[in-house]
Amino acid sequence: MDALDQTPLHAKHYADDAEFVCASILENVRLARSTYRLRFGAPGIARRVTPGQFVMVRLAGLDDPLLGRALALYDCDPAAGWVDVVYLAHGKFTTALATRQPGDRVEVWGPLGNGFKGDGERLDRLIAVAGGIGYTPFLAVAREALGAASYGESPARSPLSAEEVTFCYGVRTADLLAGEADFGAAGVDLRVASDDGSVGHQGLVTEVLRQALEETASGSRRVLVCGPEPMMQAAAEICAAAGVRCDASLETPMACGLGVCFSCVARVKQPDGGWDYKRTCVEGPVFDASQIAW
Ligand SMILES: Cc1cc2nc3c(=O)[nH]c(=O)nc-3n(C[C@H](O)[C@H](O)[C@H](O)COP(=O)(O)OP(=O)(O)OC[C@H]3O[C@@H](n4cnc5c(N)ncnc54)[C@H](O)[C@@H]3O)c2cc1C
Ligand code: FES
Repeated sequence: MDALDQTPLHAKHYADDAEFVCASILENVRLARSTYRLRFGAPGIARRVTPGQFVMVRLAGLDDPLLGRALALYDCDPAAGWVDVVYLAHGKFTTALATRQPGDRVEVWGPLGNGFKGDGERLDRLIAVAGGIGYTPFLAVAREALGAASYGESPARSPLSAEEVTFCYGVRTADLLAGEADFGAAGVDLRVASDDGSVGHQGLVTEVLRQALEETASGSRRVLVCGPEPMMQAAAEICAAAGVRCDASLETPMACGLGVCFSCVARVKQPDGGWDYKRTCVEGPVFDASQIAW
């Protein structure tokens, strides 16, 4: 093992676990307006992927769109060999993906990225915060934290663990709310906010986060956030004021997912007070939110 292998920021730690597969679509079902769950067969990825990691997906045999798109792990079954991702059909790739049927193929490489990690402590409460399709990483996180599932085959991993998981989930309007039953079945305390008040609290999801933090001021807590950057920044500021650690999963557009092209960089603060670009695909997508130069 050389020195590079030992630095946790080196791509070898993540992208070298990835495999490339031309996978068969098993299911592609609608969960909510423009929101679909894609299940594909990929036994090697299902065995190794962990919450907060992602895969890159391309439409097999097509050059348009040329680049793959990153999709977070939603869930997987290592024994059955399938992986689920959930996507919002709104752009070029996702609109085309929504037309694919069981038996069609997708090119997939992964698992990629660092994922969410615990530090050995069992938290009193884990609070996940999502805006829109940013909710996708949190089902696997919650199931693992509550002890209902385990992911990955590395014995060295330190997964998040918590007595309770609260999920603050913001949507624009009720028919975009997806996965409610999955989170309910996982035993998650789900708190919804919507812009128009058609479901849950009318207002910002960060207001729901603030409330959840106030309720649990005495216990050990950790916040995870994924979604639009202004929402993640606001959540990071609320957590900093409350003295609670916040980890953010960034969704910067990616071309390779492997650490090679530098299309995915984010600005991360440095010990000297400045900032440096970090590749979201191999050094993220999960960063300590207090270290991001928003
Ligand atoms: C680590 C990570 C995890 C992710 N996980 C998920 C996930 O679980 N689910 C998910 O759905 N997404 C996820 N994403 C985002 C995903 O990778 C894609 O970027 C997203 O799905 C859009 O892909 P697309 O090809 O459909 O849209 P694109 O065609 O690439 O468009 C992206 C955006 O630009 C807009 N746009 C497109 N063309 C134009 C134009 N000509 N003019 C103006 N605007 C335009 C689109 O409306 C859209 O808002 C993740 C990203 C990262 C980095
Ligand atoms: S997507 Fe290519 S380096 Fe990150």
